Amino acid sequence: FSLKKHNTFGIEAKAKQFVAVHSVADLKTILQENSTEKKFVLGGGSNMLLTQDIDALVIHIDLKGKKIINEDENFVWIESQAGENWHEFVLWTINQDFGGLENMSLIPGNVGTTPVQNIGAYGTEIKDTFVSCEAMNIATQEMKTFTNTECHFGYRESIFKHEVKDQYIITSVVFKLTKKDHKINISYGDIKLELANKNIETPGLIDVSNAVIAIRKSKLPDPKELGNSGSFFKNPIVLKSEFEPIHKKFPEMKFYEISETEVKVPAGWLIEQAGFKGKRFGDAGIHKNQALVLVNYGNATGQEILNVSKDVQKTVFEMFGIHIEAEVNVI
Ligand code: EPU
Repeated sequence: FSLKKHNTFGIEAKAKQFVAVHSVADLKTILQENSTEKKFVLGGGSNMLLTQDIDALVIHIDLKGKKIINEDENFVWIESQAGENWHEFVLWTINQDFGGLENMSLIPGNVGTTPVQNIGAYGTEIKDTFVSCEAMNIATQEMKTFTNTECHFGYRESIFKHEVKDQYIITSVVFKLTKKDHKINISYGDIKLELANKNIETPGLIDVSNAVIAIRKSKLPDPKELGNSGSFFKNPIVLKSEFEPIHKKFPEMKFYEISETEVKVPAGWLIEQAGFKGKRFGDAGIHKNQALVLVNYGNATGQEILNVSKDVQKTVFEMFGIHIEAEVNVI
């Protein structure tokens, strides 16, 4: 079974077996019936690089449905099944004037995978509105609720990438959104600029969403046109004590203070300075408008893209002494 259409990088890789799951009951049955098989869980396929065929039963989580489960005067609690497309879900909330997800418009992938890496963009992360998620234990098929604190969210991090990695399948997520007094967040320079260009002075949810969509479209390639997985690398977090001598050597280096002792450096800047922006090696390359994004021009293999990523990491380290870590799951 070809997985080419099931990963946004558009890599040709084969699954030994493939099954799409449409209900939690089916998921349980499939896990029980295949208890001794090797299993591989697939959501929207938007954050992984396949470097080989998958010698396992691939379980595609295709659970659909979204609904309001609770509300009070100020807030609404919305539950979405894991297989809902993230961006469609965001637009559905905005259309009802529910606030909180607008800055994360147009992020590829499905709702069920958003907590895994605590997706975020333009000053907002999933953890800011996430209440809890339901997940099935792969070994026992028991359901467990993970609350926001239990998820141990960090920058592109959660418990699902660490303590309980590969142990659970997220089946649904609950978000708490605002019904009024929306906390419009346009602190991000690019959003301010986009709104100013349109002469929008008091933006609503839809204006922020539209601004984010415009910015993303101008910088980030559409996976339908050019295979990619969004940011391939995380922005590195560096100790201030280590950063100071580097910054002395490269005074134009951009950085953001994130704590008393740490700064975050934009990997896109480092990669661009290292000369990789827009470079192409066969069918694998670095996007011309955003150096954090690796792209597949057509028939690149996962291994070829991985090799480019290693080259980028090596050169950046040699130039700046900073290690940039992959954000994408390399399989
Ligand atoms: N920069 C460059 N060259 C580049 C890219 C960026 O010099 O090729 C510089 C920019 O000039 C800017 C800074 O780096 O000063 C930050 O750039 P940008 O605002 O584009 O954001 P980013 O740090 O590169 C992060 C996220 C994106 C998210 C944006 C907006 C990570 C790994 N990436 O990128 O997330 O959309 O911020 O919030 O944190 C994703 O995870 O897939 C993703 C696209």
